[in-house]
Amino acid sequence: MTRIILIGYMGAGKTTLGAALAKATGMSFIDLDLFIEQRFRKSISQIFAEKGEDEFRRIEQRMLHEVAEFEDVIISTGGGTPCFFDNIDYMNNQGTTVYLKVPVERLFIRLSIARNKRPLIKEKNDDELRCFIAQQIEKREPFYSKAAHTFTADKLEDKEQIANSVEAFCKQFHLRNNTNI
Ligand code: S3P
Repeated sequence: MTRIILIGYMGAGKTTLGAALAKATGMSFIDLDLFIEQRFRKSISQIFAEKGEDEFRRIEQRMLHEVAEFEDVIISTGGGTPCFFDNIDYMNNQGTTVYLKVPVERLFIRLSIARNKRPLIKEKNDDELRCFIAQQIEKREPFYSKAAHTFTADKLEDKEQIANSVEAFCKQFHLRNNTNI
């Protein structure tokens, strides 16, 4: 039974790489944020606005405990998931955790065009965003680095790069890549 849990900062490519990996390997894919949105019939932004971050983190933990029971699955988590409660230890027990590591400047480029649906950054201008990412990564790195493995995910900018990253990931983690068969 294979259960891969992708962790990393917002914009690290957890959803992009996770979905592509699932397609290439034939495994199922679960995106924790999407799972929460579907269960609550609300966007993550709405949940933050209506219930506040503390309640969001409790919901996130509860939903994590559901999805981390699924089998033969690739799970992408939210950027904050490993940093609250005992979530990172729990994930390490449940599956193969992989930290998608990306340099701050690349995260900034990705997030500056995709900040609207992310409540923690949507009000920030470019300078504030760059600063915020650097500060948060510093705080979160001790949690991220508790993952069992690290994968450099700085090249996911187009289809070809995604395919190459999928190939590299499959090699590193001994997954069968059916794309070229
Ligand atoms: C968050 C990351 C988001 C989402 C929420 C909070 C965070 O997920 O869970 O907005 O604290 O970093 P993504 O990493 O998928 O953007």
